[in-house]
Amino acid sequence: MNGKFYGIGVGPGDPDLLTIKAKKILDEVDIILAPETKSGKGSTALNIAQTHLNQDVEIIERKFPMTYDIDVLNKSYDEISNYIKELVDTGKKVAFLTLGDPMVYSTYIYLFKRLKCKGVEIETIPGITSFCAIASKVGIPLGENEETIAIVPSVYYEKGDEKFESILKNIDNIVFMKASGDIDELIDELEHTGHKEGSVFVSRLGLDDEVIENNIENRRGIKNNYLSTLVAKKYSSAR
Ligand SMILES: C[S@@+](CC[C@H](N)C(=O)[O-])C[C@H]1O[C@@H](n2cnc3c(N)ncnc32)[C@H](O)[C@@H]1O
Repeated sequence: MNGKFYGIGVGPGDPDLLTIKAKKILDEVDIILAPETKSGKGSTALNIAQTHLNQDVEIIERKFPMTYDIDVLNKSYDEISNYIKELVDTGKKVAFLTLGDPMVYSTYIYLFKRLKCKGVEIETIPGITSFCAIASKVGIPLGENEETIAIVPSVYYEKGDEKFESILKNIDNIVFMKASGDIDELIDELEHTGHKEGSVFVSRLGLDDEVIENNIENRRGIKNNYLSTLVAKKYSSAR
C-alpha cells in the first residue's frame, strides 16, 4: 500500500472550526505529526484537533526551533522532511497538523516544498485562517466592494521600508499577523494612516485565554502573546 503525506489545517482554535474533510483524513491516517514549539508546552494544533482523533492513531510531536537563524531552520526542516519521507516510503499515511490554513505563513510550507521535490505524494487540506475567523468573530468585513486587503506577516518594519509604507498608505484593510511583543509603534503609525479607529487586536482566538480588544490604545506597553493578530480598517471604511 502506498503511503501519503497530508497537510491539515485545523483552524485557529475552536475545534468546531475543523473541516469535515480534515476530520475524514484524520480518521484514515496512521500517524499524526504535530509541531511542538517549546519543550513542555505541547502542540496547540494537536490540542485543537484532539477531540477529533481516533484513539489508535500514533501521535508524534516534533520540536521546531523558534529562531530566525536560517541555517538552524533549514537543518530542522531537512531532518523532519527526511523523517516524513521515510515514514511515507514504508506505506504510512502521515498527517502534519497546522494552525489555521497550511498554505498561509506556516511551517508546513517548508516541509511541503521539500517533500514535493522528493516526489512524495501530498494532499493539502485547507483550514480556516486565523484572520477570517477573527473577522467573523469581531464583525469586521475584510473586503467589501472595491476595498483592498493586505496580509502582513509582522508588526515591525524599518523606517523607509517602501513595501510596508505603501501598504499602510494605500490598503483599506490590513491584517498584521505575528502581532506579538510590543505594538506601540504600530499603533502610532495606524493613527497617522487613519486605520486606528477601525482596528481590533485579537490574541489566541478560540482558545482558553482569548483576548479581544476593540480599543487598541489599551494594548500599549503590553508584551503580546505569539498568537496575536491586529486587523486594521481604514477610517472611511471603518465599522
Ligand atoms: C505562523 S502564523 C500561522 C498562520 C495560520 N497558518 C493561519 O492560517 O492563520 C502564526 C500567526 O497566526 C495568527 N494566529 C494564529 N492563530 C491565532 C489565534 N487563535 N488568534 C489570533 N491569531 C492567531 C497570529 O498572527 C500568529 O502570530
